[in-house]
Amino acid sequence: MSNSAQIGVTGLAVMGRNLARNFARNGYTVALHNRTAARTHALVEDFGHEGDFVATETAKEFVEALERPRRLMIMVKAGEPTDAVIQEFAPLLEPGDMIIDGGNAHFEDTRRRERDLRGQGIHLVGTGVSGGEEGALNGPSIMPGGSKESYASLGPMLEKISAKAPDGSPCVTHCGPDGAGHFVKMVHNGIEYADMQLIGEAYQLLRDVAGYSPAQIADIFRTWNTGRLDSYLIEITAEVLSHVDAATGKPFVDVVQDRAEQKGTGRWTVQIALDLGVPVSGIAEAVFARSLSGHADLRAASRELVGPQAKPLGESEAAAFADRVEQALYASKIVSYTQGFHEISAGSDQYDWDIDLGAVSAIWRGGCIIRAAFLDRIRAAYDARPDLPSLLSDETFAQEIAAAQDDWREVLVAATRQGVPAPGFSAALAYYDALRADRLPAALTQGQRDFFGAHTYRRVDREGSFHTLWGGDRSEVEA
Ligand code: 6PG
Repeated sequence: MSNSAQIGVTGLAVMGRNLARNFARNGYTVALHNRTAARTHALVEDFGHEGDFVATETAKEFVEALERPRRLMIMVKAGEPTDAVIQEFAPLLEPGDMIIDGGNAHFEDTRRRERDLRGQGIHLVGTGVSGGEEGALNGPSIMPGGSKESYASLGPMLEKISAKAPDGSPCVTHCGPDGAGHFVKMVHNGIEYADMQLIGEAYQLLRDVAGYSPAQIADIFRTWNTGRLDSYLIEITAEVLSHVDAATGKPFVDVVQDRAEQKGTGRWTVQIALDLGVPVSGIAEAVFARSLSGHADLRAASRELVGPQAKPLGESEAAAFADRVEQALYASKIVSYTQGFHEISAGSDQYDWDIDLGAVSAIWRGGCIIRAAFLDRIRAAYDARPDLPSLLSDETFAQEIAAAQDDWREVLVAATRQGVPAPGFSAALAYYDALRADRLPAALTQGQRDFFGAHTYRRVDREGSFHTLWGGDRSEVEA
């Protein structure tokens, strides 16, 4: 079976295993490799009937099983394990071969690895893969970076195994050189965090302010899922909320500890945004909300802090409030996508990636965790105007947010009065209001900086930098 496999997958934990099966189900011969060979053989035993697999035990056998140029996909943990696997295989490869890293690698690691391997003529294709276990098996959204040459070889295979958007187009695009794919995936995850936080806030408000039960809120989410909020995350939220714990008979959501965990991609999105100077305040609040939830001791020590006790509304008011929450959720969602796309655009400029934002929104329409009907509209906005400075400058989104804003503000008034935290809704509204403001207090900040540190400022009416002699006669000098 030498040189017969079109693709090889090493690292056969659940994502690797399901991707390998997906390739095989689509007619490709797939070489398999895993650190412990038992997993490789188990895969063939359980799913060998699904397609052509070549089970291998050593790195050498694995590499020899691949046709040339070799396409070798690594599905191991990000960080050191990925470096270790690359170091193991790279010496066995030849110029023109491709290593596809399908893990959630940091894009800076991908840039470094791509550079190192380029010297050897090997293409490192840092590839974001979204959709969880199910997506890996039945069609994920795929975000490859790397050279154009590698995409020419890999693209058709990735298109075949990817999810298809509602219009039938494959959810994969060549994002750009070196780290572009992993950067796009990172921001996808940042947006995923924001979406989840906003949905969480909507749930909490419907529960504490409107007084609905988890089962009733599940029904509200189901209704929302038939409208403009139609998305995978809204759909699964309804499922989670209607689930009842078998052991206690209580709503499942009430028996789960309220401490959200994270593996790091949302945090990276915020860290990089800080470096790039992009205000991703909604995404940042989502990351911080997870951190805050995890501080059990701090929360326990703060239980006695004074605040209003939320008093649920009456039945008719509750229904009207739920409609307002839908508006607030939708408007805040527009803002978090605006921030995420701004970050991709800034990353693209910084690293010369030339990322097509319309293409990115198009491949997020299917397969990935943030898939949503809404993304089709984002794609239309970027297709109509590829240089759109911000999603909020698209006329349709601007009109929708204008129509939502009264309710959005009312929801935040209710949240504030009743003491229900809504940091995502609130950060999104603050961003919106800051963007539309005529004047920001940044002018005062500049004055303060000039006062204590002679940092200078610019004037509204003249070119140049200026400094006021604060400690002297307060006259102005050109700096
Ligand atoms: C996806 C997911 C996937 C993973 C996240 C979860 O797109 O399929 O984003 O990559 O579920 O990494 O991240 P946290 O564990 O940080 O919530």
